[in-house]
Amino acid sequence: MAILDGKVAVVTGGGRGIGRAHCLQLAGAGAAVVVNDIDIDEAQKVVAEITGRGGRAVADASNISSAAGAQSAVDLSISEFGQINIMVANAGIARDRTFLKMTEEELNSVMDVHFKGTFFCLQSAARQMQAQETGGALVTTVSAAHFGNFGQANYSAAKGAIASLTYTLALELARYGIRVNGISPLATTQMSNTYKGAGGKDVELPYHDPELNGPMLIYLCSDEGNYISGQIFGTGGERITVLNQPKYGTGIYRPDGWTLDEIRKHFKTHMGQLLEPVGLMKTPYPFLDGIVPPTKS
Ligand SMILES: NC(=O)c1ccc[n+]([C@@H]2O[C@H](COP(=O)([O-])OP(=O)(O)OC[C@H]3O[C@@H](n4cnc5c(N)ncnc54)[C@H](O)[C@@H]3O)[C@@H](O)[C@H]2O)c1
Repeated sequence: MAILDGKVAVVTGGGRGIGRAHCLQLAGAGAAVVVNDIDIDEAQKVVAEITGRGGRAVADASNISSAAGAQSAVDLSISEFGQINIMVANAGIARDRTFLKMTEEELNSVMDVHFKGTFFCLQSAARQMQAQETGGALVTTVSAAHFGNFGQANYSAAKGAIASLTYTLALELARYGIRVNGISPLATTQMSNTYKGAGGKDVELPYHDPELNGPMLIYLCSDEGNYISGQIFGTGGERITVLNQPKYGTGIYRPDGWTLDEIRKHFKTHMGQLLEPVGLMKTPYPFLDGIVPPTKS
């Protein structure tokens, strides 16, 4: 018996890249899969691959960035397969531009697909799982970009919001038997091919097979993984890493609280060396000498 036999999964953005790989992996592990993608031709190709290997799958073209679109993807899993046990919110787009030039449309489109899409897909799935009284597994898709990444104000903020959503929903939904985890995947895809290095320069990245994110995803979605919730894992390539959650670090304490005068006297000496590196590249803290306006030309 395969580890996900009898389970039904919805994967958003399942038509290509990491989502396609998730669909193939979940189906290979026994799940019936709703392959959602706004690009229905790609979704149908994935369905054909799965059914060609003897699996069960159906294509869905819903745009998951609205509550109605997310609900229609979940509705299809019910009408086609009778239930939903797994929701993988994976669909994504990139609209990279530096912050000062970023437009309202570039912000809204990225927040809509990533953050609102994840929110609504998880909400529709969790409501259905609660009604079914089966519990289930919700999986979000984060990115190391949420540590801060040059040129990705919209994308990094959306991924940070998804990380916080993951932690909050794990607390709220455990009582219904629903686990909520995230993966921060790694794969060579049409999206990763748009990635720019530091300062917006083109970079050559090593090839990473999208299917290598799948085994950890399957484990998280299986009954064996039912002890894991509120976690985010770096997956893909050779690694599985637990993503450290934000928390308060070293502090300085003063019995009656800190005055501005005392901060001016002590802060830089005591805390200057403890300021955190900024951003995905984790270079040493770069601003200790001060950030000053450019010289006027
Ligand atoms: N590739 C990486 O290394 C990497 C790293 C970190 C995070 N991620 C995340 O992994 C996820 C998948 O990325 P990918 O690299 O496979 O990208 P991709 O561009 O190859 O695939 C994304 C898919 O989502 C679909 N999609 C976009 N908007 C949609 C919508 N509104 N409704 C339904 N489908 C929609 C697209 O049509 C596309 O098929 C994204 O959330 C991305 O942010 C990727």
